[in-house]
Amino acid sequence: MTNRVAIIGAGPCGLSQLHAFEQARLKGANIPDIVCFEKQAGWGGLWNYNWRTGLDEYGEPVHGSMYRDLWSNGPKECLELTDYTFDEHFGRPIPSFPPREVLYDYIIGRAKKENLERYIRFSTPVRYVEYVDATDAFRVRTQDLVADQEQTGEFDAVIVCTGHFSVPNMPFFEGIDRFPDRVLHSHDLRDIREFTGKDVLIVGGSYSAEDIALQTYKYGARSITISYRTAPIGFDWPERIKEVPLLTHLKGRVAHFKDGSSQAVDAIILCVGYQHHFPFLEDSIRLKTKNRLYPGSLYKGIFWESNPKLMYLGMQDQFYTFNMFDVQAWYARDVILGRIDLPDAAVMAQDMAHWQQREEALQNEFEQIDYQKDYIVDLANCVDYAPCDWAMTTALLKEWEHHKEQSILGYRDQAFTSPCTGTKASIHHTPWIDAMDDSMADFCNYQD
Ligand SMILES: Cc1cc2nc3c(=O)[nH]c(=O)nc-3n(C[C@H](O)[C@H](O)[C@H](O)COP(=O)(O)OP(=O)(O)OC[C@H]3O[C@@H](n4cnc5c(N)ncnc54)[C@H](O)[C@@H]3O)c2cc1C
Ligand SMILES: NC(=O)c1ccc[n+]([C@@H]2O[C@H](COP(=O)([O-])OP(=O)(O)OC[C@H]3O[C@@H](n4cnc5c(N)ncnc54)[C@H](OP(=O)(O)O)[C@@H]3O)[C@@H](O)[C@H]2O)c1
Repeated sequence: MTNRVAIIGAGPCGLSQLHAFEQARLKGANIPDIVCFEKQAGWGGLWNYNWRTGLDEYGEPVHGSMYRDLWSNGPKECLELTDYTFDEHFGRPIPSFPPREVLYDYIIGRAKKENLERYIRFSTPVRYVEYVDATDAFRVRTQDLVADQEQTGEFDAVIVCTGHFSVPNMPFFEGIDRFPDRVLHSHDLRDIREFTGKDVLIVGGSYSAEDIALQTYKYGARSITISYRTAPIGFDWPERIKEVPLLTHLKGRVAHFKDGSSQAVDAIILCVGYQHHFPFLEDSIRLKTKNRLYPGSLYKGIFWESNPKLMYLGMQDQFYTFNMFDVQAWYARDVILGRIDLPDAAVMAQDMAHWQQREEALQNEFEQIDYQKDYIVDLANCVDYAPCDWAMTTALLKEWEHHKEQSILGYRDQAFTSPCTGTKASIHHTPWIDAMDDSMADFCNYQD
């Protein structure tokens, strides 16, 4: 019997999990006692913009990795919450690629509607979780930062919703320690305007490198050099952006690359990704993985193989986000409520191996999109989450990839149709490349 559940983190995943339980409760189910511990003073996770970098006011590592002027890099129609649509929240069509503040408002809108705040202990990081054999429960040690007091509680199940895009991966490049100007990881980027007029080096070959290159371009960097490790991002970049192979070393301001080329730069932004980092989990229950579509040791991408009462949401690399988190939350909830039985260890191992083998055979982003859709549908088929046209979301994601190939500066000006409501997005009053105001007021409060 699961009487007490701890949820760690009140970002999109934690809020999905609270919502899943609340929906069951509203429909008459007996739900366990739930406590959600959140280390920040507010909810929304990464979407809750934090101007600080480094440590916060309590000396805690700052969770936030989002910068000012960040706009969604995928169409909002592909992350739309099936049971809380954009139409419901905003009351009118809005464009497909909203800035951060708009998506933050949307995510917390549903949580406010259900008053989920009452389950959450804010400013309360989880310090340590260990499984206690004798009681078949988890001992969870937390700290109330405001009162500066530690507390320990026992829980029958723990759901880790702490995200995995917050603790930087930090490789060393020869000479970087003597570089005479600005060096930072994308986690610490807040205002792109500091690079106006500068020659900028971006190391990395994925979404952060791509978007930060576009942002520095938009805000007037003199030149942008993207240095990739495995493969170039490969879009038809505008003048001022170029791609080169991996940085080998720096001599003073001059960056040298694997192909023998070099470039003098004023700033280096390391867009080299993040670590799955869970220092608060005892070793035997701690997920250790790189950023991939099917992390090892997680049955259904959720349940810790050797102790499925410990669950993780949102640990996958993500084409899908908010709606995938909802489906995962529904599944985790239904296992906790005894509505779904987990199979024995051998069947779980076989299932995980099947998904991982499939993942390893994927050739390109289009196949990866299909794969993540199949993963979601596999879960969705077992739960009563509001129906969604997943095939349509997949088609939209592929269309989005094509738009990026056609115009990397213009893809955010496209309008998509919602798979939930059939509503066609409106067109923003200003093309993204010229839109310098990322406020919700500017984005939503205008007449077409
Ligand atoms: C720069 C950037 C841009 C992105 N842009 C997009 C985008 O445009 N569209 C999109 O769909 N996705 C985007 N993402 C992906 C993002 O991962 C998801 O949208 C989403 O935020 C993941 O939700 P989460 O709840 O798993 O994690 P997070 O949002 O990271 O939330 C985790 C929460 O856990 C809390 N926490 C952490 N440790 C503890 C602890 N020990 N105790 C208590 N609480 C703790 C944190 O404070 C945080 O509130 C972006 C990510 C980054 C880094
Ligand atoms: N809304 C937005 O516009 C926006 C902006 C930024 C980020 N995001 C989101 O943020 C998340 C994280 O994206 P991310 O790009 O930070 O991480 P990521 O997708 O995990 O990519 C990490 C990148 O770092 C590279 N890398 C790792 N170690 C390296 C090393 N030692 N040397 C050189 N390169 C190295 C990897 O190269 P290899 O390819 O060689 O492995 C990879 O290209 C994604 O979900 C993304 O969608 C969104």
